[in-house]
Amino acid sequence: MVSPGQKVVLITGCSSGIGLRIAVMLAKDEKKRYHVIATMRDLKRKDKLVEAAGDTYGKTLSLAVLDVCSDESVKQCINGIENRHVDILINNAGIGLVGPLESISIEEMKKVFETNFFGVVRMIKEVMPDMKKRKDGRIIVVSSVMGLQGVVFNDVYSASKFAMEGFCESLAVQLLKFNVIVSMIEPGPVHTEFEVKMIQEVKQRDFPGADAETVRLFKEVYLPSSVDIFEALGQTPDDIARCTKKVIEASSPRFRNLTNALYTPIVAMKYADETGTMSVHAFYHLLFNLGPLMHVSVMAMKYLTCGCLRRRTISPN
Ligand SMILES: NC(=O)c1ccc[n+]([C@@H]2O[C@H](COP(=O)([O-])OP(=O)(O)OC[C@H]3O[C@@H](n4cnc5c(N)ncnc54)[C@H](OP(=O)(O)O)[C@@H]3O)[C@@H](O)[C@H]2O)c1
Repeated sequence: MVSPGQKVVLITGCSSGIGLRIAVMLAKDEKKRYHVIATMRDLKRKDKLVEAAGDTYGKTLSLAVLDVCSDESVKQCINGIENRHVDILINNAGIGLVGPLESISIEEMKKVFETNFFGVVRMIKEVMPDMKKRKDGRIIVVSSVMGLQGVVFNDVYSASKFAMEGFCESLAVQLLKFNVIVSMIEPGPVHTEFEVKMIQEVKQRDFPGADAETVRLFKEVYLPSSVDIFEALGQTPDDIARCTKKVIEASSPRFRNLTNALYTPIVAMKYADETGTMSVHAFYHLLFNLGPLMHVSVMAMKYLTCGCLRRRTISPN
């Protein structure tokens, strides 16, 4: 039951990772300001969430089934909410895809877009009309740094997040007129099942269709660098949940919210050179010329980054 004055928050993809931690953090809000509807596509995966929610389960946190890839599932879930009333929609569900493009089928690529892009569009289309009518609402989208800057061998995942950034940037203007505020959360690497699934999947694949040199670059240059980056710069799902809570609680939230200060220079470099050449060349040198030194460079970057970058991000602390 939603208590008077409580905001109804619906979150997608709460069976693990960032979605799970956002759901628990909001449900445990000391002032009990939120009633969280934590959704997942398969309720058999609910145990971790229920355990983490503790005694908030059944009070400030309830569960619902929702598959962002299904029109019917989305409708059923929203129709099951009292008066279809959602104050804050948090689009978190997402899947990754990494590897040489030649070895990825169009079907796999469509699945990424179906989840990461159309999944968000489907959710927004379902709750937006009521928010507009009430002239009140918040829409949060868990995007990625890769929605602002493409990353080698993440071509399709990155494209799906870019698509969402463009979609939301356009929609945010119209929705502001109706007092519905859209915000993006843009994490860098985060230690979740996302990373585990990616590494497992890559180990099982033999990349048919990709030439030997591309497979070598992927396995021997990109993957070790990626593991180093996750180890050195990775945030926790709780860090992202704290950033998201700050965005929700801000009286005038920013549209873009990088969660990791170490990525500020990368995004700044992109906007500093409108030709885009600087970014392409910088990433080329970083990976192919400095690849063997990546570990040292990443650690140095971590320790040298000064606190002044934090004001350009939504710091988890
Ligand atoms: N981890 C990172 O490094 C990182 C960095 C930047 C951005 N992100 C973004 O953060 C978001 C959350 O990812 P995470 O790191 O927390 O990964 P995660 O632990 O794998 O969580 C992803 C969640 O999305 C759910 N999901 C996948 N397809 C779905 C569908 N069709 N309908 C409903 N739920 C679905 C998964 O449910 P199942 O249990 O049913 O699979 C899971 O609960 C994603 O949008 C991701 O792109 C992650």
